[in-house]
Amino acid sequence: MLWSLVSILPLLSLAAAKDIQPTEECPLLGPTYSSDFDLTETNAFSEAKKDFPGVVKKIFEDEIVDPKVSSFTIDVFSTFTNKSIYSYSHQATEPSLNESFPEGGIGDKTIIRVGSVSKLFTVYAILAQAGGLEVFDHSVTKYLPELAQYPPKEKDNTLESFAWENITIGALATHQAGTGQFANPSIACFTPEKDNCSTSEFLREMLEEKVPSQPVFQSPLYSDGGFGVLGRVLEKMTGKNYNDAIQIVLSKPLGLKDTGSIIPKGDDVDAIIIPGGPPTSAWGFDNQLTAPSGGIYSNHADLRTLGLSILQSKLLTPSETRAWMKPRGHTSSLVTTIGAPWEINRLTLPVAPGSKHYRVSDLYTKGGGQPGYTAIFALSPDHGIGFSVLVAGPTAGGDRWPIRAAVGETFVAAAEHAAKENAAKKFSGVFGDGKSNMTLTVEKDHVGLGMENWYVDGVEWRANITQPALSLPKGKDLIVRLYPTGLETTEDDGSTIRQYRAVPEITPLNPRPAIEGGKGLFDDRCITWFSTAFYDLETGIIDEFHLKVRNGELVAVISKAAEKVMKRKNGGKTGA
Ligand SMILES: *[C@@H]1O[C@H](CO)[C@@H](O)[C@H](O)[C@H]1NC(C)=O
Ligand SMILES: *[C@@H]1O[C@H](CO)[C@@H](O)[C@H](O)[C@H]1NC(C)=O
Ligand SMILES: *[C@@H]1O[C@H](CO)[C@@H](O)[C@H](O)[C@H]1NC(C)=O
Ligand SMILES: *[C@@H]1O[C@H](CO)[C@@H](O)[C@H](O)[C@H]1NC(C)=O
Ligand SMILES: *[C@@H]1O[C@H](CO)[C@@H](O)[C@H](O)[C@H]1NC(C)=O
Ligand SMILES: *[C@@H]1O[C@H](CO)[C@@H](O)[C@H](O)[C@H]1NC(C)=O
Repeated sequence: MLWSLVSILPLLSLAAAKDIQPTEECPLLGPTYSSDFDLTETNAFSEAKKDFPGVVKKIFEDEIVDPKVSSFTIDVFSTFTNKSIYSYSHQATEPSLNESFPEGGIGDKTIIRVGSVSKLFTVYAILAQAGGLEVFDHSVTKYLPELAQYPPKEKDNTLESFAWENITIGALATHQAGTGQFANPSIACFTPEKDNCSTSEFLREMLEEKVPSQPVFQSPLYSDGGFGVLGRVLEKMTGKNYNDAIQIVLSKPLGLKDTGSIIPKGDDVDAIIIPGGPPTSAWGFDNQLTAPSGGIYSNHADLRTLGLSILQSKLLTPSETRAWMKPRGHTSSLVTTIGAPWEINRLTLPVAPGSKHYRVSDLYTKGGGQPGYTAIFALSPDHGIGFSVLVAGPTAGGDRWPIRAAVGETFVAAAEHAAKENAAKKFSGVFGDGKSNMTLTVEKDHVGLGMENWYVDGVEWRANITQPALSLPKGKDLIVRLYPTGLETTEDDGSTIRQYRAVPEITPLNPRPAIEGGKGLFDDRCITWFSTAFYDLETGIIDEFHLKVRNGELVAVISKAAEKVMKRKNGGKTGA
């Protein structure tokens, strides 16, 4: 599929800030605040909504996207409301591909082709059908024994052919099997002239003609061909053709209404239809062998339902979802890693509006592109939001990247800032029980909740929170910040008890590597993952706190080590 690479200059002030540094403290990876609040009720999100049309206008003015020929639509959604929380559409003013637009304009249900976002549907369906991630370790020949026709080779792939026994479902799903692209001079099954190969013809071509692009698990190397094979695996698992398998495994249980790998039928389809066929348009080009790689038709409504189902673990268990949403291979970029088949963007998000400090937050995305159409699907587990971008027109290949940047840099950043805003309002404060008390703060340039002080029966205890692995000197002037671990339980009264870990550090964190403004190659200091949740012989589990949250508000802080339940006393102070 078309994977046009266009370099984008930083569009927004946020990306352009040169002197942006990591936060003084090293947070745990993952959400640093709670995301169980309505984003649309925060100032940060309202500002973002107000700003977005201006961001688009700037992209047009800077001639990054041509408003005359490009049509696009975006949708941002939240796991708190389960709804769209922002949408925006632009229809080409002088469409040049004779495209037809839905009457009444492009909307939530307007269908386009999503290209390689199809790969995500394919892997999700395989995981859902298999009932977990174990399938990633299965050899592909377990499902397609035809591929084991030749005896396994000593090496996993030679210059001329594959040792298919050594190729797992996981290797294919992470672009690490060496299966390369569909295009290959001797592979006829993918040409528009011959789009009706049978599965056995296709597998025979993969077996006899396909040449490996690398050894198995060398590194991610984009491989459409592997997804053609995965589609056959899904068909084998379900006993259905690809489109029916997607309907049965995903559409039916989730309630997807307009998703499939076959051209939507009917005279008044709500779609941006570009006529002409390849190479102008992929509309109606329904090669079912390539469909698992790039053949899905969908719309925002269905992509939102799909995204919410992933973030809310509707088809997989929560731990399977977390395991799936992890990197499985690096690229040569420090800010892009690859999952199955996630394209993980490691965002350096400013921790507050205008802050010069960032933290790393991982955005799980999948991009797609075909003649005339491109798409981006993105989920931010840290913030409980997701978004989709759908683009149609002759410049769709390049346009998706700056539009992705505009949406992500506006709304993911806004969600980060909104979480801080919410924490300042609902979590910071003074909590106490007699002569025991704790003050929690939220400050502009810092992440997590600051533990300003902690007294137990009149005695200062904050300095007891040390990290054995770091040999932090006890009693020294440490900063201590609390981060959610994700563990929580619901009480009878509807409140939740959430585990937070207190992470002590001496600031500034020195030395950091050169890439973070320090010197050298190694990071010896941002190592909180290394030293959190240790059992300290002297203090026990002193870094563990339970935060009791009712109706979104922190009402009590519980320390097991001190055996205290410190209830909210007042709003406390905040610098956010
Ligand atoms: C959103 O969906 C989740 C998961 O199905 C559900 O638990 C929650 O109550 C829903 N929230 C709203 C506001 O509908
Ligand atoms: C658009 O339609 C006109 C009239 O049928 C045709 O001449 C032209 O080639 C079409 N343009 C494209 C890009 O398909
Ligand atoms: C490939 O798979 C075969 C059969 O399972 C096995 O004997 C062989 O060791 C594997 N080769 C490599 C390089 O992993
Ligand atoms: C595939 O298409 C070609 C060209 O249209 C045709 O000759 C051939 O019979 C078709 N094969 C099958 C299996 O439908
Ligand atoms: C917390 O407790 C200490 C020691 O009992 C006391 O000195 C301090 O004033 C208390 N702080 C607050 C905010 O109640
Ligand atoms: C914390 O430090 C105080 C003061 O040094 C001490 O009295 C207390 O026992 C310590 N608590 C723990 C759990 O070590």
